[in-house]
Amino acid sequence: MKKFITSILMSLGIITAYNTNAQENNTMENKKILVAYFSATGTTAKVAEKLANTLHADLFEIKPEHPYTEADLNWQNKQSRSSIEMADRSSRPAIASKVEDMAQYDVVFVGFPIWWYREPSIIDTFMSSYDFAGKTIIPFATSGMSGIGDSGKNMQELAPKAKVLTGQRFSSDVSEEKLKSWAKGLF
Ligand SMILES: Cc1cc2nc3c(=O)[nH]c(=O)nc-3n(C[C@H](O)[C@H](O)[C@H](O)COP(=O)(O)O)c2cc1C
Repeated sequence: MKKFITSILMSLGIITAYNTNAQENNTMENKKILVAYFSATGTTAKVAEKLANTLHADLFEIKPEHPYTEADLNWQNKQSRSSIEMADRSSRPAIASKVEDMAQYDVVFVGFPIWWYREPSIIDTFMSSYDFAGKTIIPFATSGMSGIGDSGKNMQELAPKAKVLTGQRFSSDVSEEKLKSWAKGLF
């Protein structure tokens, strides 16, 4: 009898474990995911590639129409392009190409380097360029050391009909496993 009860409990355990896995997979697999990113010097690009790979998501690079030169990125020079853009909240640097059929995506991860404690102006261009109604937007960033700050709040203002999460800053060598477990907890 004891053996019988044990075997029933065991099979229930297996069934529960099976259901949990099935639900997790369903949640992830039923969503169409895009990982869009801007990266001036390649750090965020690597994180974005890992994230897209581990989530089996589509990947889109937010390429500036005019690429940033080293001089443009000089944050110590108040007259550099990045300094001028970041000092003007209405700045919207042009993007070279558009996401084909944004409507198909349920979840859009948006990656960028932190510039002056927030999202670069070209991310504001991206957020202003599409109808994100009903979609979940998840910011992620790399930086020297700053956190993601108010980037999510700023992006929410530009896409009021989307649900924009706070997001997360990662170090440049973050693992795929870490990215996956972070992403899984979000939707
Ligand atoms: C114009 C500019 C401003 C930056 N501002 C910050 C900042 O406020 N805090 C920080 O920790 N790092 C800052 N950084 C460093 C970048 O966030 C960091 O190097 C990032 O990982 C670069 O990513 P990327 O290679 O994808 O462009 C700044 C870099 C630039 C070029």
